[in-house]
Amino acid sequence: MRTAVLCALLPLFAACQQKAAEAPSQDVESEPAAVAAAAAAAVAAVDSERLVAADSEPGNWMSYGRTYSEQRYSSLKQVNDSSVEDLGLAWYFDLDTERGIEATSIVVDGVMYLTSAWSKVYALDAASGALLWSYDPGVKKDVTRHACCDAVNRGVAVWEGQVFVGVLDGRLVALDAATGAVNWEVVTVDQSKPYTITGAPRVIKGKVLIGNGGAEYGVRGYLSAYDADSGAMVWRFYTVPGNPELGFENAAMEMAAKTGTASGGNSVEEGGTVWDAMAYDPELDLLYFGVGNGTPWNREIRSPGGGDNLFLSSIVAVRPDTGEYVWHYQTTPGETWDYTATQHIILADIELEGKTRKVLMQAPKNGFFYLIDRTDGTLLSANNYIDITWATHVDMATGRPVEVEGARYTEGPFTVYPSYLGGHNWHPMSYSPDTGLVYIPVLDFPAAYGQPEAFIYRPGVANTGSDGIIGSLPDAQAERDAMRPLMKGRLLAWDPVTQREAWRVEHDGPWNGGTLTTAGNLVFQGTADGKFVAYRADNGERLWDFPTQTGVVAPPMTYAIDGEQYISVNVGWGGAYALVFGEFVTPASLPNVSRVLTFKLGADGKLPQPDWQPRVVFNPPAQTGSEESIREGYALYQDICMGCHGLNAVSGLLIPDLRGSAYLHDPAGWNAVVRDGALKANGMAAFGQWLDESQAAAIRDYIIQQARRGQSLQQPPAE
Ligand code: HEC
Repeated sequence: MRTAVLCALLPLFAACQQKAAEAPSQDVESEPAAVAAAAAAAVAAVDSERLVAADSEPGNWMSYGRTYSEQRYSSLKQVNDSSVEDLGLAWYFDLDTERGIEATSIVVDGVMYLTSAWSKVYALDAASGALLWSYDPGVKKDVTRHACCDAVNRGVAVWEGQVFVGVLDGRLVALDAATGAVNWEVVTVDQSKPYTITGAPRVIKGKVLIGNGGAEYGVRGYLSAYDADSGAMVWRFYTVPGNPELGFENAAMEMAAKTGTASGGNSVEEGGTVWDAMAYDPELDLLYFGVGNGTPWNREIRSPGGGDNLFLSSIVAVRPDTGEYVWHYQTTPGETWDYTATQHIILADIELEGKTRKVLMQAPKNGFFYLIDRTDGTLLSANNYIDITWATHVDMATGRPVEVEGARYTEGPFTVYPSYLGGHNWHPMSYSPDTGLVYIPVLDFPAAYGQPEAFIYRPGVANTGSDGIIGSLPDAQAERDAMRPLMKGRLLAWDPVTQREAWRVEHDGPWNGGTLTTAGNLVFQGTADGKFVAYRADNGERLWDFPTQTGVVAPPMTYAIDGEQYISVNVGWGGAYALVFGEFVTPASLPNVSRVLTFKLGADGKLPQPDWQPRVVFNPPAQTGSEESIREGYALYQDICMGCHGLNAVSGLLIPDLRGSAYLHDPAGWNAVVRDGALKANGMAAFGQWLDESQAAAIRDYIIQQARRGQSLQQPPAE
């Protein structure tokens, strides 16, 4: 019997699971039966009519946020607050990558399309989990040097028989939905610059929309539209003005240029990448998207004369046919804390003071929940959804936050709630028209910022413009332990009308998954400590959970086939917090087990037992470096290495913990890895451009210090 057929019958059969790891890219010839079956019906036959009316097809999940309104609400209710206790694992599919999994799966007419780390695409039979085809764009792993937040990808878009994926290295690829063969491929960025793509494309009226990331690395942000059939670029909307001497692309850029002053090398000419949120209102024919932070974060360096620096940290509305600017709302004028407004945007029609209003909702990083009239961008209300310390409130007369004195850290270090990872990051929230509540995966922890003594602009590495040592964790373990209870995360049900909390569920820590809500009075969310959980949507009561064996960051989704409702979530720990906050990553998040888990009522599938021991084996050499060298290494480490190897050299273990590295004993080998890129093919880029030999050695001295500290804590010397 062919494996594909067998897998369709017995999805949990071991051979079906191995297939993912073994399958070469575009493994189509070997699976004619499955492909023929998929091709028999028109595949991914999604068009404007279907997308605009997506609410009438609850069995499908045809675009990133399910509908153009991006509510992530499903009217399916076979699985509901009373039946959910019978929910069990229907099938699982192992993804052949070991980095963070952030994708929302798309399901159209029984076929599931998703991405894993490294922008790989998979098409699965959505009822059985059998692989139909897979596609590997062959990303060179050292491009992660330009990716702040892991080798992640948030998913595909489908349209008229094609599947579109934005690739980490800046390509946009159109695949044949039936076979996975490449139809066309375009490079959407200047690849000599540190651009990356992690966001999911959207398709509006035959145009594929894609943004990019990399603001603090030194790129100018924009959103582009490509013709779905030919791959030709139709329009591009820049978010910051660029070099004024080259002229402005449009009046919006001319307006933006008046809101900032450039200083050499790093300036208002860069930043503002569009790396995640988009939503569309077909009636108003407006496309909304969120804009990111500045290059560097610190405005004092970027725009020393002050200014709002449009369109950083803004929500912008444009015409989807032309990219013509219509309105904007800036959440954080003169942003200086990495407070992006790229977070999930939800559109809804809700009753406010007796009138139905067309609103847009966002809970961006800065900690405020915004309710905006989406016809013209008027602010309707704003309130903070976590306790914040950088501003007191939003002034309704001006629509601007009222900042706390000193919060801009120009006069001295300042600890701010929320941190640069925000009160809410990319993890999608959801909105239920039944309960009227928005379910936000909240982050709640602080970060310290400080003006650096001297700022060196290094295009191609992360430029925060905030002092790396001030932003690091305390050296003393007791002080770090005292920080642990501050590292909070929760599921927050927020009433957008009253701008008040309805209920909350505290999690073990930050960086939990995105949310899904359904007409079954349910909210689903995966957690950092390895659970997939269902709550009552109206009061937050915990009704059901399933152990996922890995931290979950991706949002769940739901669909139906032949009258059966499925709930599916992609699991696999990773992303920015996983890399940076190694000190506080709960052991239950690890290892990264990258999988699709799909559930239905009455199923009772089991996962194989993982065997993995998270630990660092300390074996550091004697310290030979001077105090000055260790200090220099500390500062360089925080500026250049921390984003991947973790704050204070404590890794989240997706990437090696340098305190256990054998290269600590091998200065020449260390130099070859760190400066020359000896491990480039595995994702450890060459940093010789920014580090001479003595600087690389200084980092080694610092790591030896941290390793010796770690060792002494792990094995206290017997008295
Ligand atoms: C963009 C992410 C990234 C950044 C930034 C980064 N590294 Fe790495 N590094 C990696 C990855 C991934 C590996 C694992 C490579 C492998 O598996 O062979 C690695 C491996 C290493 C190793 C080998 C560890 C071992 O024993 O196997 C050393 C040493 C190292 N990095 C040092 C540094 C230093 C020093 C910096 C800062 C100057 C730095 N790295 C910055 C991603 C990064």
